[in-house]
Formats: sequence, C-alpha cells, structure tokens
Amino acid sequence: MAASKKIIAEVEQLRNEINQHNYRYHTQDDPVISDAEFDRLFRDLKSLEAKYPELISDVSPTQRVGAAPLSAFSQVVHEAPMLSLDNAFVEADVLEFDHRIRSRLQSDEEVAYACEPKIDGVAVSLLYEDGKLVRGATRGDGTTGEDITRNVRTIESIPLQLLGKGYPSRLEVRGEVYFPISAFTKMNQRAQSRGDKEFANPRNAAAGTLRQLDSRLTAQRKLAMFCYSVGLVEGGELAEKHSEILQELAIWGLRVNPLVETVLGAAQCVQYYKGICERRESLTYEIDGVVFKVDDIGLQQKLGILTRTPRWAIAHKFPAEEGITRLNDVEFQVGRTGAITPVARLAPVKVGGVTISNATLHNMDEIDRLGLMIGDTVIVQRAGDVIPKIVSVVLEKRPSKTTNIELPQTCPACGSEILRSEGEVAARCTGGLSCAAQQRESIRHFASRLALDIEGLGDKLVEQLVDEGLIDNAADLYQLTEAQLVKLERMAPKSANNLLEALENSKETTLPRFIYALGIQEVGESTARSLAMHFGDVAGLLEADEALLQTIPDVGPIVANKIHHFFQQESNLAVIDSLIGFGLRWKVEDTGIIANSLAGETWVLTGSLNSLTRNEAKARLQKLGAKVSGSVSRKTTCVVAGDAAGSKLVKAQELGLKIIGEDELITLLEEYGA
Ligand code: IVH
Repeated sequence: MAASKKIIAEVEQLRNEINQHNYRYHTQDDPVISDAEFDRLFRDLKSLEAKYPELISDVSPTQRVGAAPLSAFSQVVHEAPMLSLDNAFVEADVLEFDHRIRSRLQSDEEVAYACEPKIDGVAVSLLYEDGKLVRGATRGDGTTGEDITRNVRTIESIPLQLLGKGYPSRLEVRGEVYFPISAFTKMNQRAQSRGDKEFANPRNAAAGTLRQLDSRLTAQRKLAMFCYSVGLVEGGELAEKHSEILQELAIWGLRVNPLVETVLGAAQCVQYYKGICERRESLTYEIDGVVFKVDDIGLQQKLGILTRTPRWAIAHKFPAEEGITRLNDVEFQVGRTGAITPVARLAPVKVGGVTISNATLHNMDEIDRLGLMIGDTVIVQRAGDVIPKIVSVVLEKRPSKTTNIELPQTCPACGSEILRSEGEVAARCTGGLSCAAQQRESIRHFASRLALDIEGLGDKLVEQLVDEGLIDNAADLYQLTEAQLVKLERMAPKSANNLLEALENSKETTLPRFIYALGIQEVGESTARSLAMHFGDVAGLLEADEALLQTIPDVGPIVANKIHHFFQQESNLAVIDSLIGFGLRWKVEDTGIIANSLAGETWVLTGSLNSLTRNEAKARLQKLGAKVSGSVSRKTTCVVAGDAAGSKLVKAQELGLKIIGEDELITLLEEYGA
C-alpha cells in the first residue's frame, strides 16, 4: 500500500522530533525527554519505515546502524587542504606567536583570539550539500584522505541533516572525532575479558574505529565529534569571526566544544591554557593542549598559511608525560640512506597509559650528551604520538656494573664498513643499495603514505619480499606476480591480488609524491613539492646542477649537493627509468596550489617584467591561490606594475588600489615559497 499524505507527514514529523531530541542529547547535553520516550518515538518511526520502505531516506535517524563491509575506502581529494598546527610548548612560544602576528599585521593593538581545547582524536571533514551529510573523510596527508562516509554516519553527534536554515548550499565542516573516555574504558574491559587485544589509548581506538571497513562495528562503538572549523563554503556566507562561525555551526546542529572562549591578547591566552590545565582531569574526553586562533577571518586571510600550518593559529601543548625505567640494551638500526640510529631497548614502562619498551637515541652524539650506559636508570618522555625519547639518566641509580655503548664498526645488516664523515652527525653504512636494510627502508619509504601510498604493502611484507630476494628496489615491486606472492607466508590469493591492484593504482601519482618517494637524503615532502613546482617534470631535475638547485626555495647548498649526488648515481637513474617504464605517471596539474596564502585575492599584472615572464609570474601567483585577472576593477587586490605600465596602472591609481613593483612581487613569491 502506498503511503498517504498523512503517513508521509507523520514520518517527517517523527524524524524532526527525533533529530531535535538527538541534538538536545548528543550535542547540547541537555535532553528534554526520557530515554524511554525517545525509544518510543524511534520505534514508531522504524515501524512506519518498515511498512512503507519507499519512505526510508538516507537522512533518516534510523539509518545510523552501519552497512555491509566495504572492500577498501576510496580516496577523497580535499577541495581545500586540511592543515595542521604549529606547536607551542612554553609560555614564551605563545608570546612569540602573538608577537609575530602583530608585527606581520603591523598592529600595536591586542589581537582577539578564539581559544579551544585541543581534542586528542582524529581530524575529520564532513561535507554537507543542501544541509544533507553527503561525505565524511579522514585528513590523510592533508590533501587526500579516505572516504569514511558510512562510518561517520553512525556517529550520533554528527547530524545527517543540518537543523534550521541559512546554511551555505555546500559546507565542509571539520573537527575531531574522539572516543569518550568512559566508552573507551568499557570497550577495553570487554576486550580484556574476552582475551582480545586492547587499544593503547582513546585516540588509537578512535582512529581504528573510524577506519573499520565494516561500519556496523563503528556503529557499536560510541564515538563523538567536536567541530572546530570550516573548509569549503559555497552558496552562502558565514560570519566574519571564527567564534561566530562556531556559533553558527552549533545552531545548525553541529557539536561545538562548550569550553571555547574568545580572549584579547597573549596574556589572556596563557590564562586560558592554565584554566584548561586545571580542568583537564575532569573532562570526559582526552585533550593534549589548547589551540589559539586569530578570531577575525579577514586577519587570518591576511596572515595566510605556510606549507602545512596557518600563521594565524598555534597549539599550546601540555607537557610531555614521563616515566622511569632501565636501559637494557642499545641496538643499531640502518635507515633508508644508511644512517645508523641507536635505539634504546627499555624495560617496559607505562607512560600516559601507553607501554613503552623502545626509545630513539637519534645518534652517537645524543648518547654522549646524555652520558648514557647500558644498565642505567633513565627518564623517558612521551609527547602525543611522537616516538618516545630518553631525556636524562638518573645517576644516583647507576649500578656498579654498566656497559659502554659503542658504535659498531660494520653494518649490522650487511657487514659493510660504517663511516662517520666530517661535519655529519650520523654514522652511515657504506653498503649503499646493496645493503638489505637500506633496500628495505627505501622501499618502505617509497610505499609510505606521503609517498606512493601503496595500500597493503606494510613494513613486514617489504621485509619478507627483500629477504626472499624478490625485490631489491622500488621498481622491482611492479614486476611482482601473483605466483610469487602467494608463495609467501600468510599471503592468501585474495591479499596477493589486492596488493597487485594497489600497486597498479599507485602508478597514477603526483610529481611531488614521486620526487619525495625517491628517498633523496634531505628531501622531505615540502622540498619535493618545491622541486616539482620548479621543474614541472623529472627530466629537468635530473640534469640540474647545484647552482640551479640552490635558486629553488627551501634548497640550500647541502640539500642541493645531496640532490645532485643522488641523480649522479647510475643505480638511481636506472630505478627511475624502470619506474617510468612500468607506467608510473603523474598529473601535471597536481603540482597546482601549494598554499592558500593569497586565496580569495585577485591580482593583475601589467607592463613588462624583467626577471620573470608574465606567464611565470601568473603561474606562481596562482600556486598561492590567487586569481590573476586581465583587467583592473574595484575587486582587484593588487596590481603588479612592470616597466612602461599604461592604462591599467592609471586606473589602479584612480581606484586607490595596492600597487607593487616587480621586485616586491618576487620578494613576496619567495617568501610564500612559490
Ligand atoms: S584547528 C588550521 N582546532 O590538532 C586549523 N585542530 O595538530 C587546523 N585538533 O589536525 C586545525 N582540536 O586534528 C584545530 N580545536 C581544534 C583542535 C584541532 C584538535 C587537531 C586536528 C589537527 C591537529 C593539529
């Protein structure tokens, strides 16, 4: 029987009521009906939907139970990058942050900051179209994340449909999904009683739960979310202050942390931090610090962003947690570029809820600095997800029998000589790519998330493949066959095929990722991006001499030397050739916007430039997010006037627009890293 108008209206009414009560309960923490009454409304809706299945819609509150498992998550390219935060650890860092802001803004006035708890969870982006939740995604590397829509739909504090009206037609909301402490403790107790593996802490548990391919499992674990910013906004406008935007989000039913406050100046930020420190223990969720954000969005835009972090915000982190334990041994690991890193093996100790049995010692200088000996009692420190480190030795507890820590003379992996060259802190294995440890590490790096991101190719598997002699370098990965893979221990045909598919998918990449994946010493993600931007392809990069390399932002003499040296090695060139031969490719436009420092601005170039071509200037401005237009209007942000500029310059002067010369443009482009 088709649903009558009356039934349709009844279903609609029930949904609205349930949504309102959900909001009161999960978002405002202020329910107005009893659980039993709520359950009754919910049951009524469910039975109507069962009777009239055609009325079931994606946004119905009954549709939060999860769905059949996915085989993999698909990728989501964020329309605006998801940024990270710079950190402050002591009061002086906060004062300096405020000072930097005021000098950039050339202002003597106190700056208004929005202060928020820094939730220790997982960053998530939610996309609403016409008020409906259409996509949830993880942050991933900030540019590309994973589509976890099915999982976020199960989180009750995330509205499937925004409340009220006035929201932009496309609105991307960002925030932190976390595991409430009580739910986390209960889940771990249950896991313990069943003999299952327990999660180390609520953050790991939240991350693991969000990445469940079976969203029915996610639905069983009670995650929650606090929203703290917006990404994409189209078809509508938001308020001009960050704090007001948060209020708007709250009105539309999104959950915003109740401890957000706006303050004036750095001293009040520090006060806020102290206040939150005192309340930390009483909160029902874990936080690892507080965040200060310039409240005025116009000022935020003026300040812009660096590669991955905005200039207008900072996280003031709580001090790292410490523990005391015994150093049982030191082992030496060989890194991707042959660097030998001493690693401390410790008697297991719990620090901040996590058991630590290893800590990094960085290099031999660090061991000297600490005056460390095997058998010593040491203080270990753990800050968030950073690798634990030894901060000091408790000399009073030094036993009578200790052992000196000495750098081995030969590589523990391949037996080649270990050398420590002049001016370098790290000792290195001289075995190069014939050293199995270096092979393994460079292949791991190649497959890692920020490089080619090859799903399913974990550390263990790389080790197996290298040990079995199936691969020596990254290019060999693309020659692996199903027959070879299934012979490996714990490798079912299905996993073998998944890996081959992931390898095939990884062939389509971006130039910055490809350059980063090569694992050139000193070339991190940001330098790789600068190189990609400058050369636009690998051919030019291969031939660049050190002088040319040094003209690129981020590249000094040492880095230039390492890059040049890398491309002088026949073995490296052979790997690159094979990779390209196997079909690795990248989209040129992916070297696009590197930062949003000039987002929303319109620039005009006029007259002739001397050290740049017009096209080059245009491309570099666009990389910073600016629009480059051919005509001057009131909407123009800035006009660059080269030699013999004519009518456009006159018009810009008449309109009182900002006008700069070529030198100033170059300084600005360099400063922003374009
Ligand atoms: S703002 C530019 N606000 O901290 C804005 N982040 O260390 C970037 N986080 O990736 C984020 N609470 O996952 C912001 N109130 C808060 C936050 C917060 C937690 C996380 C977020 C981010 C990470 C940066």
